[in-house]
Amino acid sequence: MKPPVLGWGAATSSFQIEGGRSGRVESIWDRFCATPGKVFERHHADVACDHRHRWAQDLDLLSTLGAQSYRFSVSWARVLGEGWGFYDELVDGLLARGITPVVNLYHWDLPQIFEEEGGWLDDTIVERFAGYAHDAAQQLGDRVRVWLTFNEPNCFLGDGYGSGVHAPGKQVPTEVQRLAVARWARAHGAAVRAMRSVRPDFAISIALAGSVYVPNNESAIAAARERTWSVPEGNLWSFLPFIEPFQTGTWPDGWPASGEPAQPLDFITLNLYSGPRVDADGQALSRPWGAAANAMGWPVEPDILEWGPRFFYERYGLPVLIGENGVCTPDWVTAQGTVPDGHRIDFMHRHLVALERAQRAGVPLLGYHAWSLLDNFEWAEGYRRRFGLVHVDFETLERVPKASFEWYRDWIRTHPWGG
Ligand code: GCO
Repeated sequence: MKPPVLGWGAATSSFQIEGGRSGRVESIWDRFCATPGKVFERHHADVACDHRHRWAQDLDLLSTLGAQSYRFSVSWARVLGEGWGFYDELVDGLLARGITPVVNLYHWDLPQIFEEEGGWLDDTIVERFAGYAHDAAQQLGDRVRVWLTFNEPNCFLGDGYGSGVHAPGKQVPTEVQRLAVARWARAHGAAVRAMRSVRPDFAISIALAGSVYVPNNESAIAAARERTWSVPEGNLWSFLPFIEPFQTGTWPDGWPASGEPAQPLDFITLNLYSGPRVDADGQALSRPWGAAANAMGWPVEPDILEWGPRFFYERYGLPVLIGENGVCTPDWVTAQGTVPDGHRIDFMHRHLVALERAQRAGVPLLGYHAWSLLDNFEWAEGYRRRFGLVHVDFETLERVPKASFEWYRDWIRTHPWGG
């Protein structure tokens, strides 16, 4: 189904914010955190932002912000533990505040028991995931219309089973990773069918990550487009294998096909953080010494918010949601009690102006979700990378809206979506 307009909002994920460890079974990320040498200073997410218990306060922050929609993920491990009650409350809490929920079924926190069966390297996962998606549709589908089956499949498959820097920390050869991609595609397909058997009118997508190559000038547009749709040899970091099979039923050369019939997405979701600039030959340009970068060193390249939506719309003709976009900066609460995160304000401003250019170029945009509402557990980096609009003190769990929160609230107020 055609998705509704989602407008301005923010995104989070279950493992990164919820805490409430006793209410969930062990996930691969709990196991990974407990394994020495995997996560910065052995940080873990037993408490995280304690969103499991402070969710009402966090939804009030979204209301204050003026958010029209909010993307969160369901923890499969929590559903196996305490059931669906928390997500029921969360969805009701959003609707009571006039905020449209966008529900992501899988943001990397696979229950450890399924990893013991082989995880994404074994076919049993396909039916397991489809069963879970069916439950989700039955539990929440009377109130939730917009869904993501997965967040960034190339990251959890490539980093979880390739480089091993993310849970479950396995390292298998590229051919085996590609088989895992085909299996994942079957899981997505089976999940979509299962969900549509509950309600045919869901709008379903996948949050995709990858490099959007930015043309340095007019003459570089063709080369940037070509690089954006290229598929590298040794890793999974590209868009094409994660969308083309659903839209056209085809796989890149040399990739094992899933055997799934094409089953097009209802809209495109892009998580965009950074991307290289290229010249007319498609060569990446070197950046000036000391050029803008986030605290992890990712180059700041606002034009990705123009060219990402343009390239995807031109290829697939679907409306685009910016599912994540944000920056980590070294924020702290000053003696005056404020968090003056000027770099985040500048980052957002430049990116939102680029997004307006995409809109002027004719791309139908569904919404923009800032990553993230709260500072949170940034995977192997632990809590040392702050991406939030709201500062979280991980000892007291106190929330302090940053200057960027106020800035975004004013932006939302003065820029009606699509206006
Ligand atoms: C990802 C995830 C988020 C991250 C964010 C910042 O892309 O890794 O979707 O969970 O926290 O992107 O790295």
